[in-house]
Amino acid sequence: MGLPQLRVATAPTPSFCVSRRFEEGKKSLNFVSSEKRWKPLQVEMTTSPPRERHPSTGICDPLREATSPYQHWNRQPEHIPVEKLEVIASLNNWAQENLLPMLKPMLKSWQPQDFLPDSSSDSFFEEILELRSRAKELPDDYLVCLVGDMVTEEALPTYQTMLNTFEGVRDKTGCSPTPWGVWIRAWTAEENRHGDLLNRHLHLSGRVDMRMVERTIQYLIGAGMEPHIDLILYNGFIYTSFQERATFISHGNTARHAKLFDEHKLATICGIIASDEKRHEIAYSRIVGKLFELDPNGAMLPFLEMMKKKITMPAHLMHDGENDSLFDDYAAVAQRCGVYTSVDYARIIDHLISYWNLGTLTGLSSDAQKAQDFLCRLPARIHRLAERSLNRARSEIPPRRTFSWIHNKEVDLL
Ligand SMILES: [Fe+2]
Ligand SMILES: [Fe+2]
Repeated sequence: MGLPQLRVATAPTPSFCVSRRFEEGKKSLNFVSSEKRWKPLQVEMTTSPPRERHPSTGICDPLREATSPYQHWNRQPEHIPVEKLEVIASLNNWAQENLLPMLKPMLKSWQPQDFLPDSSSDSFFEEILELRSRAKELPDDYLVCLVGDMVTEEALPTYQTMLNTFEGVRDKTGCSPTPWGVWIRAWTAEENRHGDLLNRHLHLSGRVDMRMVERTIQYLIGAGMEPHIDLILYNGFIYTSFQERATFISHGNTARHAKLFDEHKLATICGIIASDEKRHEIAYSRIVGKLFELDPNGAMLPFLEMMKKKITMPAHLMHDGENDSLFDDYAAVAQRCGVYTSVDYARIIDHLISYWNLGTLTGLSSDAQKAQDFLCRLPARIHRLAERSLNRARSEIPPRRTFSWIHNKEVDLL
C-alpha cells in the first residue's frame, strides 16, 4: 500500500461480475492417458465499462455508470490436473474431523446484539447517547479505517461466491452435506456478524455518512473481486489463509487504537471480530498445511505464483461513485495509521512460511526447490523495501484526500 513496487492494493481496475461455467465435458474424470488427465475449466467474466468521466470536471457519472450495460469478456480457460482433484478428494474425512470442529457451536456464538444498544430496552436512547458521545473522540482517519474495514466485511456475498468457484470444495447445491459445503456456509454465517456489527455501530455513532457508505457497499458487491488466482482449492486456501490473517491484524489494530481513544466498547467489538478472523486463519492455514504434507510440489508452485503476482485485497474494486481511487486512498490511510501496512504484508508471508515449515521441506522437484528458495528469502526482501518506502513517505508532506464516508472531510494519506 502506497509502495509502487509492493502494492498489496491494486489500482482500481474494471469491475467484474463473474459468471463461471464449469464445463463438465463428456468424459468422466477417470482419464487414463496423461494427456487427458486435465479437466478443462471455462471461465467467463463480464466487466463493467471504464467509468465515464465528465470531460471538464473529471468526475464520474454514477447514474450513467449504473445504467451502462455490463460488457462481456473472457478469461482463458484454466485446467485443473486430476491429481490435484484427487488430493482434495482424499481430504474429505480429514476436513470432517479437523476442519468442522474449528467452527464455534451456534449457541456459544456471540451475536451483534450482544455489543449494541438493545432497541427493546427502556435504556435504548440513553445507550445511544453514550455511544455517540464516545464516538465524538474518534479521529477522522481512524473512522476511514473502520469504515473501510466494515465495507470489506459487508462484501461477504462475493467471498462466499468466490469460495464456491474452487473446484473440489464448492457447495454444488447450496445445501451440500460435504464437509467443504458445510464449512463454506457456516464460515459465511460466522463472518456475516462482522459486517452487521460494525455497520450498526457506525450507524448509531452519528459520525459517518451512512448513505455514502451504503452506496460503496452496493457498488462493491455488484463489482465482485478479481484475486488473480487460479480457481482451485490450493490457490484459494492459500489466499484465504493470507486474507484471514490480514483481517485479524487490521481488526486487532483498530481495537488497540480504540482503546487509545478511550472507546473501550468499540475496542471490544473490533477485538471480538479479530478473534474470529484468527480462528478462521488457523483453519485455512491447517488445510494448506495438509496440502503441503500430501502434495508439497503441487502446493509450493501456486504459492510462488501468488507471491510473485502479489496478493490482491478482496475489496480492491470499492467505489463510492465519486472517488476513482477510493480503495488506494483508504489503504494509504490504513498504512499511515498503522492499521494495516506493507510491513504487515511481509510479516504475514513470513508467518505462513514458518507455519507451513516450507524451509525444511525435502524431496522436492527442482522447480519446487527453486520456489522454496525464492519464497524463504522473500519476506526479508519485502520487509527491507517496505521499511525504505515507509521512511521515504514519512519524510514527505502527506497528500490529503476527502472521503465521502466522513462527509467529505479531509485526512492525510500516507
Ligand atoms: Fe470478517
Ligand atoms: Fe475473515
